[in-house]
Amino acid sequence: MHEKTKEITKIIINAKEKAIKETSHEPEPELTKLVNWPVQCVVGPGLEGAIACETRIGYVNGSKGWLIYRGYNIFDLCAYATFEEVSYLLMYGYLPSSTQLAAFKKKLIEYRTAHQTKRLLMSFPIEKMKPMAALRLGTNLMRQEFTDVDSDKYLSSVARIIAADEDSIPMETAPMGEEHAIYEFKRYQREDIIKEDLKHATGYESCFHLLSGVASLSGAIARLRCGRMPIEHDPELGFAGNLIYTMTGKKPTAIEERIMDVALILHADHGMNASTFAAMVVASTLSDVYLSVGAGIAALQGSLHGGANERVIEMLKEIGSEENVPAWFEKKRSKKEKIMGFGHRVYKSYDPRARVLGPLAKYMTKENKEGKRLYKIARNLEKKVVETLGVQKKIFPNVDFYSGIVYSSMGIKPDLFTPIFAVSRVAGWTSRVQEYLRKNRIFRPRAMYVGPFDKEFIAIGKRGRSKRS
Ligand code: ACO
Repeated sequence: MHEKTKEITKIIINAKEKAIKETSHEPEPELTKLVNWPVQCVVGPGLEGAIACETRIGYVNGSKGWLIYRGYNIFDLCAYATFEEVSYLLMYGYLPSSTQLAAFKKKLIEYRTAHQTKRLLMSFPIEKMKPMAALRLGTNLMRQEFTDVDSDKYLSSVARIIAADEDSIPMETAPMGEEHAIYEFKRYQREDIIKEDLKHATGYESCFHLLSGVASLSGAIARLRCGRMPIEHDPELGFAGNLIYTMTGKKPTAIEERIMDVALILHADHGMNASTFAAMVVASTLSDVYLSVGAGIAALQGSLHGGANERVIEMLKEIGSEENVPAWFEKKRSKKEKIMGFGHRVYKSYDPRARVLGPLAKYMTKENKEGKRLYKIARNLEKKVVETLGVQKKIFPNVDFYSGIVYSSMGIKPDLFTPIFAVSRVAGWTSRVQEYLRKNRIFRPRAMYVGPFDKEFIAIGKRGRSKRS
């Protein structure tokens, strides 16, 4: 495995050794036991510290800087596995045999063709939409194309009675008795691959469909945004290689493909982060996997979460030069503004994902003048932040700090960085949703009411102009 890219494996192993050395003095893990419900915990704003469920999928130790998927540390998975293997691991709980992996890859290849979805996507102004909004739309279209959840047989009886009442049928749904006139183009030319399991949009097949489909959609969106037609996958390339190829139209080198694969592994799962929680909340209502992943995409796009990677590149360009770092940093601090790509709710030590992505960014930019310039600014900024905020508040680079430099060096545009994050995180979202649904209970926390009571109702004509309280 990874014979052609041994130098990348070496970079990852070095990162692992550095991590072990620097965090060996930190305390051993807590919160790794079965929970006796109801659980007592101290909850802060933003649900900080709240325990929402048990999981066997992944573990983040913020003080030791550990990230573990199903018992395996992230450095070993990056060094020795592939994204397909890791997705299988997250979903099923064990690493696949070579036969199991081959079958899994075959399934992902089958599911990546979604012609009708792409065609429908092209009827929207994709070039004017944020890629994450387009991606979310795309998952809804996949749901529409491949599942039966919205078909007649799932409509309530009331809806059917109304539909059967001629007068209430909007004209365009059945103009002059030509039942299919308008929607003829939608008459199901669904792919042969439609499987029984996809129809209900809730099971494992839907998860794999989304894993492959979100990657295909990201490639298509990248192309449509610059006025080009989506391109077909290259059968010679794997999941990561095709992601680069369908986004840029350029065949990646073995090194680029490997580094994208490592980046996908690093982003695949991360505890109860905001987007995972959003996906799980939606699933807990017994909605479906497509809508849950759509919720994850919506949450991920914000700049406090996955959207930070795009903002980091803007920030490095704004700083402009290594010399400008101290002045820029002081200005930000004096205004108490946050610095994108730094800080984390859980990590109070160096994020292990940034430990891998930092050296990979250096490696990828060594022959690239503009990339090297941005990398040097980033390194200087990191030094400045770590020696000040690192010491005072335990703020270190997070996963989003170096990823953009890595993607840029492959010719990927900044507005596609967050979609790449989403492509990978589908593995975590869907695995966690499936795990949670096995013992599902609808998520329903409470808010503390701090408003007034006993207000007298005043009729509208007698009300003055009030201010918002
Ligand atoms: N730059 C400067 N100061 C920071 C930063 C930062 N990036 N992050 C946190 N701080 C400071 C806060 O100002 C606050 O200081 P105070 O106690 O003096 O008021 C303290 O550290 C705690 O910060 P919070 O915002 O309360 O921490 P929280 O856990 O709520 O937020 C978050 C975590 C959102 C990641 C935050 O660190 C941040 O906004 N970072 C920048 C955006 C970013 O990079 N997001 C990507 C995170 S990784 C991911 O989601 C994939």
